[in-house]
Amino acid sequence: MNMEKTIIVANWKMHPVKLSQAREILFEVIGGLKSTRDSDKEIVFCPPFLWFEDLAAQVKNKRGVALGAQNCHWEQGGAYTGEISSAMLANAGAKYVILGHSERRQLMGETDEIVNLKIKAALKADLKPILCVGEKDGEEMNIRVEEQLSKDLASLSVNQTKEIIIAYEPVWAIGSGKPCPPDSALSATLFIRRILTKLYSRFLAEKIPVIYGGSVEAQNASGYIKTANMNGLLVGGASLEAKEFLKIIGSF
Ligand code: PGA
Repeated sequence: MNMEKTIIVANWKMHPVKLSQAREILFEVIGGLKSTRDSDKEIVFCPPFLWFEDLAAQVKNKRGVALGAQNCHWEQGGAYTGEISSAMLANAGAKYVILGHSERRQLMGETDEIVNLKIKAALKADLKPILCVGEKDGEEMNIRVEEQLSKDLASLSVNQTKEIIIAYEPVWAIGSGKPCPPDSALSATLFIRRILTKLYSRFLAEKIPVIYGGSVEAQNASGYIKTANMNGLLVGGASLEAKEFLKIIGSF
């Protein structure tokens, strides 16, 4: 990814139920991108695994559009029934993988130690990890985010960490219709860069893209880029509505 580009991730989660619907959303969004206006953006579609190879063929050689996975296993292959490896995803056309999403942490019991192993596996397969961090309702942002960053990035070298994108996703904002106010998102961006400076260096901290996720929609999207100084967005629900998603993309 060109670090100058704003990255906009579409996390489709466990939607849609048919490949034809997945293609429809993808085609409508790609068809609606404006070559001049959107050339400084990288749109990353993260569909369910099952639709991956088909959609990868559709986005192949399309500039500014890439595919990402929503998860991967920490091994490249082996006796892990029901799992998908980073090597498989890379071979199927993925460039990115979302890791440590709060739904996986909360509902699938993913610990920071598991997230750390998955980041290493993703990097081994040349996938760019999009690491999600963020506090739950009632938790202190800085305590939770510092804990997650230091554990999730444990023993990663500078060269490994520079490939990572950090997504700040306050858990209370995800799917709730209660987006984080842009000034709080700005505090989180600055805090994340402070921790990265502590763990690595200021130079690296300035280079790593930090993006925002949690109830992003067309009317609030630009605040995260312009006011909160974020390098992009991670969009869940609104990324399944092609028209709304295009409005988000075109709003800054
Ligand atoms: P949302 O989801 O945009 O529907 O809140 C964001 C996410 O889960 O990453």
